[in-house]
Amino acid sequence: MLKKLMGYGHLLKKYVNAEILTSEEITGEYSRLIDSYTKWNQAMMKNPEIALDFSRLLDLPGPLKILDFACGMGAITKALVDFLKSHNIEDYHITAVDGAQQFINHARSAVSSNRVDFIHQEGMAFLEKQTEMTYSAIFCGWALPYFPRTPVFRQWARLLHPQGLLALVSNRQGTLKHIESIFLDVMSRNPKEVNKIMNTARNLPKNTHQLSKTARSAGLIPLKATSHSRSFSFTTAEELLDWLLESGALAGVKKIFYDFEKLRPEITEKIAKQCYSIIQGRFEINHDFICALFQKPSH
Ligand SMILES: C[S@@+](CC[C@H](N)C(=O)[O-])C[C@H]1O[C@@H](n2cnc3c(N)ncnc32)[C@H](O)[C@@H]1O
Repeated sequence: MLKKLMGYGHLLKKYVNAEILTSEEITGEYSRLIDSYTKWNQAMMKNPEIALDFSRLLDLPGPLKILDFACGMGAITKALVDFLKSHNIEDYHITAVDGAQQFINHARSAVSSNRVDFIHQEGMAFLEKQTEMTYSAIFCGWALPYFPRTPVFRQWARLLHPQGLLALVSNRQGTLKHIESIFLDVMSRNPKEVNKIMNTARNLPKNTHQLSKTARSAGLIPLKATSHSRSFSFTTAEELLDWLLESGALAGVKKIFYDFEKLRPEITEKIAKQCYSIIQGRFEINHDFICALFQKPSH
């Protein structure tokens, strides 16, 4: 118990000294997932057109100027291009930005269109340089916790045209049940092994109500905010941990430790105990998320 408390003290010191994973370290980890990320993305969002309410674009005046913020490998960008084409809309331009160089390289070759620009840049730095009222619509898929909440909403609101739309899909608190506490436990038991701490789990929206409140205080009107949950199950705890690490669900987490492999058996053992479902006879993990749509008022 004393050892664990001292471990927590060590973690607190890292927090106070701001030894927290940087956005370069997180996007660097995403770049490493170039071969496995798509698996997670396809499992989680089979139909971006519905999750992100693409049909609302049809109500907006043209020419459409769209931002895909933290676009990753361009899954949403590609779905937008296909959607607009299927509705014979040609008068549009999409700017897609992400901090992971490998993802942007992949996106550029996957979506070749002269109506799309892919930009490799840190997200907040990109937003701050943009002129106000530039975009008819902004999309952000699965990236909200990587950005400071109030500033990013203020920037999005600033950059939208009056009546412009902001469509989000984001993990929410309660997702990946047990995983944060397992990692905290392993960190507090092995304080000397801890390189840096990660604060993205802390930065997840609590629920639809809290997300709508943030949007309102940035000057946006909530049109929709719904909660969803998906569950994935595995034959072994090792498979579950691999899914978390290789799919991007826990991107960056390996960097918490100087040598992640040293702690892998301890983490796996805890997953085996806490994520086992007796009913299913399998190891289960939940992904809880929110789909939301906001609009900038006309004046
Ligand atoms: C879970 S992926 C989502 C990608 C894409 N939106 C999708 O739906 O497939 C999160 C993305 O956020 C990007 N990201 C994280 N922090 C960032 C930052 N500070 N600036 C720019 N991109 C960032 C990562 O590089 C990664 O591509």
